Amino acid sequence: MSDFVKVATISEIPPRSMKSFEVNYTRVLVCNVRGHFYTVADECSHDSAPITDGKLENDQVVCPRHGARFSVVDGSVLGPPAIVPIDTFNTKIENDNIYIEVD
Ligand code: FES
Repeated sequence: MSDFVKVATISEIPPRSMKSFEVNYTRVLVCNVRGHFYTVADECSHDSAPITDGKLENDQVVCPRHGARFSVVDGSVLGPPAIVPIDTFNTKIENDNIYIEVD
């Protein structure tokens, strides 16, 4: 059964930035894209590197290790060498708090 868990406040993640959190033993990366918040797994599907030290470019993250590119909106692969999408997590805002849905 899944539930929404508070991970941060809006002010902790300014526009065009991202921040990693551990929630229920899963590393997730919350990204602020022009005031819209998206959450993806903080683990590259290519070789399991954390993505948090990579770059957020508009609605895409770039893995720091070999440069794979993913959509933070749906987790899809937008650039090699990754071929498998990364997980995404439902994200909602309530009273300046950011919540993500986890199992
Ligand atoms: S581990 Fe991310 S591109 Fe290789």
